[in-house]
Formats: sequence, structure tokens, C-alpha cells
Amino acid sequence: MITANCFAVDPWILREAPLNMDLLPQSESVFALSNGHVGWRGNLDEGEPHGLPGSYLNGVHEVHPLPYAEGAYGNPESGQTAINVTNGKVIRLLVDDEPFDLRYGRLRSHERVLDLRAGVLRRTCEWTSPAGCSVRVRSTRMVSFTQRSIAAIAYEVEAVDTTVRVVVQSELIANEQLPTPKGDPRAAVALQSPLDAEEAAASGTRLRLIHCTHNSGLRVAAAADHTVDGPAMTRTSSESNADVARLTVTSELAPGDKLRIEKTVGYGWSGVRSLPAVRDQVEAALAAAATTGWQGLIDEQREYLDDFWARSDVEVQGDEELQQAVRFALFHVLQAGARAEQRAIPSKGLTGTGYDGHSFWDTETFVLPLLTYTSPNAVVEALNWRHSTLPQARERARQLGLRGAAFPWRTIEGSECSAYWPAGTAAFHVNADIADAVIRYVSATGDAEFERGCGLELLVETARLWMSLGHHDSGGTFHIDGVTGPDEYSAIADDNTYTNLMAARNLRWGAEIAERNPREAAALGVDHEETASWREAAAEMHLPYDDELKVHEQHAGFTRHQPWDFASTRIDQYPLLLHFPYFDIYRKQVVKQADLVLAMYTCGESFDAEHKARNFAYYEPCTVRDSSLSACCQAVIAAEVGHAQLAYDYAVEAAMMDLNDLENNTRDGLHIASLAGTWMALVCGFGGMRHDGDHLSFMPRLPERLSRLAFRVRIWGRSVRVEIDARSATYTLLDGESMTIRHHGEELTLTSGSATSRPVPDGHRRRAPEQPPGRYPGRPGQQQADEEP
Ligand code: BGC
Repeated sequence: MITANCFAVDPWILREAPLNMDLLPQSESVFALSNGHVGWRGNLDEGEPHGLPGSYLNGVHEVHPLPYAEGAYGNPESGQTAINVTNGKVIRLLVDDEPFDLRYGRLRSHERVLDLRAGVLRRTCEWTSPAGCSVRVRSTRMVSFTQRSIAAIAYEVEAVDTTVRVVVQSELIANEQLPTPKGDPRAAVALQSPLDAEEAAASGTRLRLIHCTHNSGLRVAAAADHTVDGPAMTRTSSESNADVARLTVTSELAPGDKLRIEKTVGYGWSGVRSLPAVRDQVEAALAAAATTGWQGLIDEQREYLDDFWARSDVEVQGDEELQQAVRFALFHVLQAGARAEQRAIPSKGLTGTGYDGHSFWDTETFVLPLLTYTSPNAVVEALNWRHSTLPQARERARQLGLRGAAFPWRTIEGSECSAYWPAGTAAFHVNADIADAVIRYVSATGDAEFERGCGLELLVETARLWMSLGHHDSGGTFHIDGVTGPDEYSAIADDNTYTNLMAARNLRWGAEIAERNPREAAALGVDHEETASWREAAAEMHLPYDDELKVHEQHAGFTRHQPWDFASTRIDQYPLLLHFPYFDIYRKQVVKQADLVLAMYTCGESFDAEHKARNFAYYEPCTVRDSSLSACCQAVIAAEVGHAQLAYDYAVEAAMMDLNDLENNTRDGLHIASLAGTWMALVCGFGGMRHDGDHLSFMPRLPERLSRLAFRVRIWGRSVRVEIDARSATYTLLDGESMTIRHHGEELTLTSGSATSRPVPDGHRRRAPEQPPGRYPGRPGQQQADEEP
């Protein structure tokens, strides 16, 4: 676990000093750079020591058979795993005749800084070789947001007190040797040597390697160019073989002399383009970057991020660590989604190979809300990607005997990669989550072109799925049986409330948008009779309810199940899935992650205030948060029902998920949904923001620890700034025509440029429900706060 003082607290940077060698696997994820297309883990420049070397190109994967002990109809036969592509970040250094390797000699100082405004990773260190020669090494690394194929490094070595002979080897390396994966089944299946060499070239300061994956047939090209600036006797040479292309720079540095190398790396890949075409693509990317130059790339990066922060920053006063964590979270969500452009946004972004690099519902339910209200263009790209996978989703539905489209639970290129039915394909809610992201985006932006194109088709095909998956009983009530909701500790259950409510929304909006676009709907074969059947199913949707307890059931029969024996569960037995058989978990009342509680957020209009409070109190004591997706959802509802301190602790947990390595697997990559969920916890929790079609409302209320919260929301072509302190909330319409919002139920009309303030009413405070023993949220080791009343 990363202890609290591992990174210095600062609002705009993440600084590690000195180097913590034991935490390299985690810090490689935390310091990863990406633009959604290219991803580089924060490996040391010299490549070793490392936890996991990682260079990724979004979508580049290998396929492999999914083995089953016993065959069964409909099992996905083929899995996909993101692979470590050609490593362009390695720059090795020889000082006199000793490799610069931090495991040897004396490391006098070492600092790494992730600069969230500049979008670069800086490293400064001073090292004395075993033979007593000291050098200072500085590097700045970036993955460009503005030129999506480009990553770049400025590397500088300086002699400190004696003259030293230095050799710098800047490389492209394919098929790097990877550490053997650990036992956790959730970690990636590392594929050794996945790339077949097709071309290797080195000439002057330019390097190039082109490879092809064995089975998936994807062609991957990496090229690099360098500028070298050093003392007069500096020499360069280059060479290449199948898996390595290397530029070697030799020089002699007197004390104070510096050798500086600027390395630009261009990446490209394709499943269809020819070798010459992919080669030209990376060469062209390098040519464009050369015109911009190193300083130009740095300036563009800053400008891009200035614009991002102006739209998306969340300011927090009263908890500096939370402020830093929120910006860290926003930065990494941007990195994961900014330039994914018609590719999936994986659950780990491009920071590691956890979950094999797959995408889940995490994208639509956790990442896209934040992007919808801050960077809507990235949302269209993500939804267009989903749309591009409709052929596979239709085929999967057909295979399962269903209509419409059945989107995969986890995938890279669109087909189902989950080998496990109960916590895989049975989680049909992913289809409603995709539909929900379409509805949210369309109603926040009014993007009519997207609505009548990809949006409509996604809604229609998912609505058709629900109609074939569910059924009306003899009394007319609509049921969806045998599905898995968000909580993977209950499986193949009837009438999961979250799924049913989300499906009902899918059906209603499918009908609404089809009727709004009759010509396009007719082209998809939708007629009045079909939309009427959707509306009827939505209206008749069953919501299981326990009359005795007066709570909504997570699924039919849930509250009748035997409670989990928490008293006999040791704290080291979490996550439960690694210590108890699923059969036992499935038949007890134990919740892996917010499910009914999530439904109360995404479909809040379906629950009255009393039920929200009662339901929350019921599900808290059995929710163990064995998924990082849970804390942020619990934060939102805890805030809404009046448990401000508990909500705050959940928000902190979501924010600190990776900075404190709370799930002990940050080494496999960051938890992008939890990071995005930090925004949700603050904006929708303490800001109380809800958006439903034409209505935007806020119910702001801060926890005691925070004195101020400020954020912006982009909606209906306008930007609204929201500032909240303990006593009041101020709404400023920054641009666009006047608009109406609600503040704690009161309607306010905002006019451009003027600020409207309203007092924050005192909330009803309830005693917070307890969590399972040892599962109180927050920072590591935190105890349950002595709360109100
Ligand atoms: C959660 C899923 C989630 C997946 C990827 C699992 O542990 O239960 O809801 O989609 O992780 O983040």
C-alpha cells in the first residue's frame, strides 16, 4: 500500500522524492502518460529496474483461445489482451564503463514530478557510479494531446565533478521481456513476444521498427528521430535488428558540460493498411512533430491543458490532499479519453494491462458523465466506437437467441471476451448503460446529427434487446429475469432493480427519439406498434419491493436471503471473491458494489426521499466495496440522504484509490472509473447536480471539512459556474442565452454574465448507517467518524 506521505501534497503537481524502489510498479501507473491513443507507463528512462514495462496503443491486442473445462453453447471462444507494443521510451546511459542503474552506486537525489498543468513527467536525479563518477540526469517526457501519434522525451546528462565518458543509447525495443504475472485472476495474461518483425531500419538519427501481431494480424509501427546537442567530440551512430533499433551517442563531458538529446517517437497501427502505408504514417507523424519542435510540443500541450482546466477544474478548499487527488483524477480521465477517437476507453486507460486492457460499462456509467459536461467531443468519439461494434453486438444477440444488440461485458474490439457467464454476459445492464450515455449526451448537447444517426440506432437496438430478454406476465407486468446487476456478488437474479429501471429508461427514450426522427427510425424498421410496445413495457416494469422492511429489493428475493456472516469474516479475506466460493457469495445478502444505491442515483426520480434514506440504511451494512466502482456511488447517495461526513469519506476513498493503492492493484493500472467517480462524488454528491432531459438541478451541501467547492458544467451550449460554501451557492452563466436551473427545488433563471446566489438550507441530519466491520471508507486505517446527530 502507498502510505499517505508518498507524494508531496501540492495542488497542481504530484511529486515523489526520493525514489521509492519498492513502489515502482505502483508509481509506474501513477506517473503514466497517455492521450487515449498512445500510453507510456512511468517506467524509468533506462528501462530497469521496473515493475512492468508498458507501452500501449489503444486497440492493439492479441487474441488467444479462452479455454473451458467443459464446453457449452454460446461461450466466447476467443479472448483479447492488450499487448505491450514497441517501447520508445528507453534511453540507457553508460557512465565511464558502468551502466546508469539505480540499484548500484549511490543515488544522491531523485525526484519525479507529474505536472498536471504542463502535461509532462519530469525527472531529476544525481547519481554516483560504483567507480565514483557523478552525473546529473534530467528528463522531461510527454505524450502529446495535440499530435496523437507522438510522444517525446528531452534527456540531459551533466557531469558533476569529474570528466566522464558517457554513452547514451536511445532505443526502440519490441518484444521486451515481461515479468511473469502474479496469481490474481484479474491481472492480465501477459503475452510474451507477441510481435513478429517485419521491418527494422536505422539511419543517421532516425530509427524505425515495424511488427505484426501473430494472431490478430495488427501491424504496429514505431519510429523515432533525435536531435543531439553536446560538446564538440559528441558522436552518433545507429543500428537495428529485428526487435531493436538503437541510436548511440558518445561524448566526453567535463564538469558542468551537458549532453542533451531530444527524442520524438511516432506510433501508428492498423489492421488493414499495408506495410508501406503504416511506415509512411509514422514518418509523416514525425515530420509534423519536427516542424513543431520540442518547445512547440511543450507549448501546445500547455495550451491544450489550460483549455481543459478552464472547462473542467474542480476547486476544493479545506482538504489539500483531496484537491490534489481530484486534479490527478481529472488529468488521468482526460488522458484515458481525450484522444481515444473511435476506440474504447479501457477500464485502466492506457496505464497498465489489468483486466487485459478491456473496456466495461465503466466507460458509459463513470467516465462519460464527467466528459459529457466538460469535454463532450470525447463522448461522441466513445459512443461512435460503441456504434462501430454494433455488428458484433447484433451477432452476439442472435447467438443468444435475442433480438437487437447484446453489447459485450468486456472487450477490446467489440466481441464478448468474458469467459464467465454470471459476471459476464449476464450483466446485460451494460446495454442500458450505453443507452443512458446516449440519452445524457444528446440531452446535454442537443447534438441532432448524432441523435438521428448513431444515437438512434444504439437506442433502438438496445430497446429491442430488452423486449426479447424480458416478458409480460399474465397480469401484464414486465419482468427481466436471470440477469446480473452491477453487484457481481448476486448473479443471474430476477428483476434486478437497477437493470429494470435503466431498461425502462432505455425503452422510453428509444420510443421518444424514434418518434422525433420518424424517417431514420423507419429506415431501421421501427414502426408505431414497436415504440408503443416499448412504452408499455417501460410503464409495466416490475420493481421488487419488500413490504415488511419497506425497502426496495436489489433483485426479487434479495432481502429474504441469509445475511453474510461478517462476524466470521476476517479483514484479510477481502476481496471476498478471492477467499470464498461464488456459490456461497451468490446466495447470501452481501453486496460487492453499489447496485440498488446506484439506481437511486441514476434513476433518482423513481424513489422518494424516505425510501432513499431507508434503502441506503439497509444496503450499507452489507456492501463491502470489493469493487473500486462503489465508493463514488455511495458518496452521492450518502450526501443526498444527509450523511455528509460519510459522503466525504467515500469521496476521499474514490479520489485516493490509486494514490493510496487502496485495492492493492494499482500496479496493474489505474482505476479510471473511480477517478472519474471522484468528479461524480463532488459534483453530484456535494453539488447535488442532477440532469434529467430539460432539467438541471443542484442540491448543494458541503461536508464540514470543506469550506468551498467550485466547478463548471457545460450544458445546452452554455457554461455554468457553480461555487458553494457553507452558507450559500452562487451560479454564474458564463456564456450563452439565459437558462433555468433549480436550487434545492427553487427555480432560478440565470442570465449571461450575472451571478445568482442562494442560501444553502440546513440539511436533515441522520445517524449514518454502519458498514461491514473493518470496511469504513476513507483514507487507510480511518475509523468511523463520530457523526451526527
Ligand atoms: C467490477 C465491475 C467493473 C470491473 C472493471 C469489477 O470488479 O465489479 O463492475 O466493471 O471491475 O472495472
